[in-house]
Amino acid sequence: MHKASVNIVGAGRLGQSLGRLLAASGRYRIAGVLSAHAESAARAVAFIGQGEAVGTIAELPTADYTLLAVPDGVIAEAAQALARDGRFLPDSLVFHASGAGELDLLATLAERGIAVGCLHPAFSFADPARAVAGFAGTPCALDGDAPSCARLANLAEALGGKPFRLAPGGKAAYHAALSVASNYLVTLTELAGQLARQAGVPDGEVAGLIGPLMRQTLANALTLGPAAALTGPIVRGDAGTVARHLAVLPDDVQPVYRRLGERTVALAGARLSAQQQAAVLALLHG
Ligand SMILES: NC(=O)c1ccc[n+]([C@@H]2O[C@H](COP(=O)([O-])OP(=O)(O)OC[C@H]3O[C@@H](n4cnc5c(N)ncnc54)[C@H](OP(=O)(O)O)[C@@H]3O)[C@@H](O)[C@H]2O)c1
Repeated sequence: MHKASVNIVGAGRLGQSLGRLLAASGRYRIAGVLSAHAESAARAVAFIGQGEAVGTIAELPTADYTLLAVPDGVIAEAAQALARDGRFLPDSLVFHASGAGELDLLATLAERGIAVGCLHPAFSFADPARAVAGFAGTPCALDGDAPSCARLANLAEALGGKPFRLAPGGKAAYHAALSVASNYLVTLTELAGQLARQAGVPDGEVAGLIGPLMRQTLANALTLGPAAALTGPIVRGDAGTVARHLAVLPDDVQPVYRRLGERTVALAGARLSAQQQAAVLALLHG
């Protein structure tokens, strides 16, 4: 069976992990591995069990795929160096794995007529050995033109991932979705904790108070969908309780409570009568 060849530039956590998964799939062969430090490239080759550590871009063999697994801030620079000094096959495809970085980080390569794409695994590669063991089923977001995405979808499947395609130009919204889901959940936890402490709940008991409720609510929202999971004063049309909240919230919390409340009214939809909606919105806008 023909194995497509893959070069890896950047022998860190993601580069090593994907390299080993691709080699283990039996469908891809790791060719050259280049990193900022020779020791990193040698360590990656040992971990992957395949490939040749090289010291410069010019020494990279020609390959069907090149993964730029360098830190986000270095992708454009690495792409420029590759476009300048690299050697390519007619169908070579270069891709990066950043969740936030756009495809245009690879513009210099695209200008040379080289196919480019992005494959972002929604996974935390803290330690390569653990990452390899736990990667199966990971969603992999693909960005690029249709032929490049089709090739990257095959590669993602060989990794054990579940590929899906982003809308053209959808990278920023995709990353914002992950940030809201992850970072803002943390911010909301902190905010709820602040209010619990305002009510006199001791520091050591805040997590025990809000934790079970947060876990259960998140599980409901993910299983039933956000609209069906919604409970509480807004979806009940209980304007009196909303008014009592607003009366005690600190100034810095008021704007976020009001904006999220408006969003919650919209989510409640037809579960609120027009009159109830108007009463709650009047308070939130007040
Ligand atoms: N880690 C994750 O959980 C995760 C998840 C999804 C996507 N990603 C994406 O994967 C990419 C790599 O992230 P990572 O976490 O693997 O980073 P990392 O562990 O810091 O590894 C980056 C590697 O790039 C090498 N490097 C830096 N500058 C270089 C250059 N100019 N030329 C060649 N190699 C260079 C470093 O080499 P030396 O070791 O030789 O110094 C380092 O090993 C990023 O785009 C990131 O957004 C990461």
